Amino acid sequence: MQDDDKRLAAEAALGEISPGMRVGIGTGSTMAFAISAIGSRLPEWPATSFYATSQATWRAANAAGIPIGRFADVAELDLAIDGADEIDPQLRAIKGGGGAMLREKIVAASARRMVVVADGSKHVAALGKAPVPVEVLPFARSFVEARVVALGAKPVLRITPQRAYRTNQGNLILDCNFGIIADPATLAAALASIPGLLGHGLFLTEVDAAYVAVGGIVTKMERPAA
Ligand code: A5P
Repeated sequence: MQDDDKRLAAEAALGEISPGMRVGIGTGSTMAFAISAIGSRLPEWPATSFYATSQATWRAANAAGIPIGRFADVAELDLAIDGADEIDPQLRAIKGGGGAMLREKIVAASARRMVVVADGSKHVAALGKAPVPVEVLPFARSFVEARVVALGAKPVLRITPQRAYRTNQGNLILDCNFGIIADPATLAAALASIPGLLGHGLFLTEVDAAYVAVGGIVTKMERPAA
């Protein structure tokens, strides 16, 4: 059921792709449905180039037959499509459950339009039930940990069964539970100011629209024009 909604949201968002676009493709289980659908519908979008937000997405795209461009060679994309861990009515999101939020934010920022795909469990009244992941330079682990605790977080070092989780850049992740976040913008600015904290999962301005599926019905939410 939840997987059906993930698939429906992901497939609905593919209507945003037009031939010739440069498209960023995100990471996670919802985007896995998008990647598989893009792979099977590839001829619909001639001259379109795709860019991956993570090594996992690069591998999944390769397996689906989608040629992936080198993001390092482009400064601007037309569109980015990605999942989210939480999204609120103002289209502010928490991302990074899959550990890719640093690249995801760069790709989102480079895109003229970014859309999120999600099942209804991700749609929340206020951000903060999910932890905010922060990417940390290993050298700065204890320093950053103390700084996020001072901001009110309960940080947990993300681990794999064998060892600390490493991002695609070789860094650590602290999953920071802040509880319900009353002022996401102030928190985002405070996180961004910590040396050694290389990126965080608060996406407050990047998302232009969200496709959210609940019980088989997809609703598109659009950010009101500023
Ligand atoms: C990856 O780092 C994340 O930002 C994902 O986009 C997010 O965690 C949503 O993933 P799921 O679609 O697997 O829930």
